[in-house]
Amino acid sequence: MQNAAAFSKEEMNPLQSIEQWDEDVLDRYPEAGEPAKAKESFRNYDNPGRDTVREFYRLNHTYQSYDFVLRKEKEFLQFNRKELRVWEAMEFLNTLVDDSDPDTDLDQLQHLLQTAEAIRADGHPDWFVLTGFIHDMGKVLCLFGEPQWAVVGDTFPVGCKFSDKIVYPEFFKDNPDASDERYNSKFGVYQPGCGLRNVHLSWGHDEYLYQVMKGYLPDPALYMIRYHSFYSQHREHAYDHLMDDHDREMFTWVDKFNPYDLYSKSPKPPVLKELKPYYEGLISKYLPETIRL
Ligand SMILES: [Fe+2]
Ligand SMILES: [Fe+2]
Repeated sequence: MQNAAAFSKEEMNPLQSIEQWDEDVLDRYPEAGEPAKAKESFRNYDNPGRDTVREFYRLNHTYQSYDFVLRKEKEFLQFNRKELRVWEAMEFLNTLVDDSDPDTDLDQLQHLLQTAEAIRADGHPDWFVLTGFIHDMGKVLCLFGEPQWAVVGDTFPVGCKFSDKIVYPEFFKDNPDASDERYNSKFGVYQPGCGLRNVHLSWGHDEYLYQVMKGYLPDPALYMIRYHSFYSQHREHAYDHLMDDHDREMFTWVDKFNPYDLYSKSPKPPVLKELKPYYEGLISKYLPETIRL
């Protein structure tokens, strides 16, 4: 059984920073009108940036097994690490910087603020704006010493066959579940149309934050938080056979959210200090005084 201590430094942090994963997703799913990267450049083995992303997915696909996910759920869903005000949790997230990559804008709050402000500018309800503001707060997992590939990366169901629509599917060959007949059939441990609430997804910041926030936000918001990295479904529709009617209805919101997450980089960065009263107001409207991480 692997725990974090069992991984070498290289295995813990293959990426220069966790934003490298977000940038890679953007390359894969460019905004309409932008040219898609040619497959050759996407799989350019001579590009060192590409190599680190490949290595990241190799580790992610090798180690995110059904047992690994259940173990992480047990470990983190006790919420016995920290109790903070929501704003303090956001500031805690913002201490996540990576000094190996001084060129990248590593301010975590900027991405959240830009996502939220783009949602607000389009006139969406305030809970949608708040969701944009907090959606990546689960990345605090990195600050609890978790490997990058157990915090970020496309998520996918475990306990059933890995779809070849997941990025770099070839790396699943070293996942123990790929040769385990309990887990490698189309439905594996699940029933047809059982609904995603009965399905375990690979462990990361999405599921973790969903578990922190459930009970406080409307269902569409919780779906956006829980499934925003589930690209093999919301972009590729590879797991329709596990969804139920409620999932299908709620995924229209996941689809609505995704462009704000990917394409909201603003040329004029919003100023956190000026916007703080507005976001503090949203937090106190919907969320409890403190949250447990
Ligand atoms: Fe995210
Ligand atoms: Fe994000």
